[in-house]
Amino acid sequence: MSKFWSPMVKSLVPYVPGEQPKMTNLVKLNTNENPYGPSPKVIEAIQAELNDSLRLYPDPEGEGLRQTIADYHSVKPEQVFLGNGSDEVLAHIFYALFQHGEPILFPDVTYSFYPVYCGLYNIEGTKVPLTDSFEINPDDYKQPNGGVIFPNPNAPTGRYLGLEHVEAILRANSERVVVVDEAYVDFGGESAIKLVDQYPNLLVCQTLSKARSLAGLRVGFAIGHTELIEALNRVKNSFNSYPLDRLAQAGAKAAYEDQEWFQKSCEGVISERERVTKALEDLNFEVLPSKANFVFARHKEKSGESLAKALREQGIIVRHFNKPRISEFLRITIGTPEQNGALISALRLP
Ligand SMILES: Cc1ncc(COP(=O)(O)O)c(C=O)c1O
Repeated sequence: MSKFWSPMVKSLVPYVPGEQPKMTNLVKLNTNENPYGPSPKVIEAIQAELNDSLRLYPDPEGEGLRQTIADYHSVKPEQVFLGNGSDEVLAHIFYALFQHGEPILFPDVTYSFYPVYCGLYNIEGTKVPLTDSFEINPDDYKQPNGGVIFPNPNAPTGRYLGLEHVEAILRANSERVVVVDEAYVDFGGESAIKLVDQYPNLLVCQTLSKARSLAGLRVGFAIGHTELIEALNRVKNSFNSYPLDRLAQAGAKAAYEDQEWFQKSCEGVISERERVTKALEDLNFEVLPSKANFVFARHKEKSGESLAKALREQGIIVRHFNKPRISEFLRITIGTPEQNGALISALRLP
């Protein structure tokens, strides 16, 4: 702490990202990255942008990329908002749409950045408990609020909420914005984007970090009614007009143009997820049903903490959250067949 800090900085509780270790040879299954890497067309597109034009600012509106994403999702480009990773998009959402003097609602077990944004913008948050089986119950979201946000599939549980239940939450909250954070939707869920023209209070957020394997490029977006997008643009243009650089815009566009790569990558993750789930169950784990690129599992006898430690000693990193309700669980990112094999072999050891 320092006397130079603005007073509110003293009370900030920042987000703690999963570890990015410097050591090589680790089996890194802790931050839900995609093991298969981006399309070679993405690399080509980025290389083609590595030229003298880097002296010029990028397109502040990312028009080409917005058009590509709009076409892919059958919406208008004015319904697409781009950001430097979906984390930045989420930050602007909290600022632009969640400050109504009433607490926003999100699940008690969810993406831990939501309470951090609440702290940053001084927004009150109410944690709505998931059911005993770690599901979102739409009836619990029928209470006064300043907005609603949840990931679908939820993180770190991996559990998916069917669109009919998402619609129930939207209908119960027609006077507030409901944000569906779909970071993991391409691994088996159905996107709520097709509902945006029906529900002016729906905002869907997605990222290229997971299914398109571009966590290092930092590209995310939101899709919704043009009035919601206009609010986000006002905030963005009061903060940083150029969140996406030239390389990010070119690479992200190319990612959408290689549908085959995307599909193969998602299928690879899904089939490995099913295999890992079965293997963990055989090893006496309870595994929550997942539609994400990770599984959330607890051993019926051994503690989450001791298992995470034992795996680490064997060069395998998974995520363990020392938090109420979930401290016995491990969140395990689905890796390549070899990485998953290493995980399963390590867990077989006494
Ligand atoms: C639920 C959820 N939303 C958003 C993000 C942020 O993704 P990014 O900022 O890489 O787009 C993550 C990252 O792990 C996540 O788990």
